[in-house]
Amino acid sequence: MIGVVGTAGRVIHIQPSMVYRGHLVLINSEYPLRQAPYSKSLAPVESLAHASTHERVMRLERSCLQQLEALLDACGGRGGIGVVSGYRTAMEQQRIYDRSLVENGEIFTASYVARPGESEHQTGLAADVGDKHTGVDYLCPSFPEGGVYASFRKLAAEHGFIQRYKQGKEHLTHIACEPWHFRYVGVPHAIIMEQYGMCLEEYTYYLKQFTLKGPHLFKKVKEHLVEIYFVPVHEEEQVLTIKARPETRVECSGNNVDGCIITIFHDLRKGLVG
Ligand code: DAL
Ligand code: ZN
Repeated sequence: MIGVVGTAGRVIHIQPSMVYRGHLVLINSEYPLRQAPYSKSLAPVESLAHASTHERVMRLERSCLQQLEALLDACGGRGGIGVVSGYRTAMEQQRIYDRSLVENGEIFTASYVARPGESEHQTGLAADVGDKHTGVDYLCPSFPEGGVYASFRKLAAEHGFIQRYKQGKEHLTHIACEPWHFRYVGVPHAIIMEQYGMCLEEYTYYLKQFTLKGPHLFKKVKEHLVEIYFVPVHEEEQVLTIKARPETRVECSGNNVDGCIITIFHDLRKGLVG
């Protein structure tokens, strides 16, 4: 809930439940999904879906889908890259997990399939993408190194996407490297994570040092100076006043752990407030 106060203040009412919603929610075996954050704002993937996937009605969270379309256009990937898996309900994740245990065994399943309740696919913010020219390996789609796949990877952060499970981060993510699984976190977060080589576990922890009263994190992105900080959330509603012009875009995302991340997009062409 975001309101406007005068010309130089914005008011955000932070409710305890907001910890579990937003583009920056950390979902893993330690912090399972507490609610389906986007089940009401899903949009059909339609023509972007890989022709051989068995997800018949594929959906993604609306901004995630919009940015995925923009990313595919920017890298010229519509002809070569298809979405193999999008939003999954808890029941679908359970079915995938159970079937993998039978077909692939425990070690493979623990490496490549999140337990029900611990999958980012249940938020609608994760997309598995794969080479359209090959048949589909549903759990481990082929996503080659070079060509249009390399361009997709290179431009992903600018569109708010991260490769969520990277080599070298397995001790933090507890999932094997998955070159096909992209997670939407939004801009500038994906750009900062890419720049510092941080996975989402590291980034959500890193952001906690930027508090309301302490120094904030700033990142210049095109015509915006983006200001970021963390607000711990307790049991009662909190009211935050933000120094920004009334038309400034302000986002508030939970981290699914203990607080919310505030992201303020100051338009440099208009100057800063305060
Ligand atoms: N493949 C990822 C870890 C999932 O099942 O959500
Ligand atoms: Zn995936």
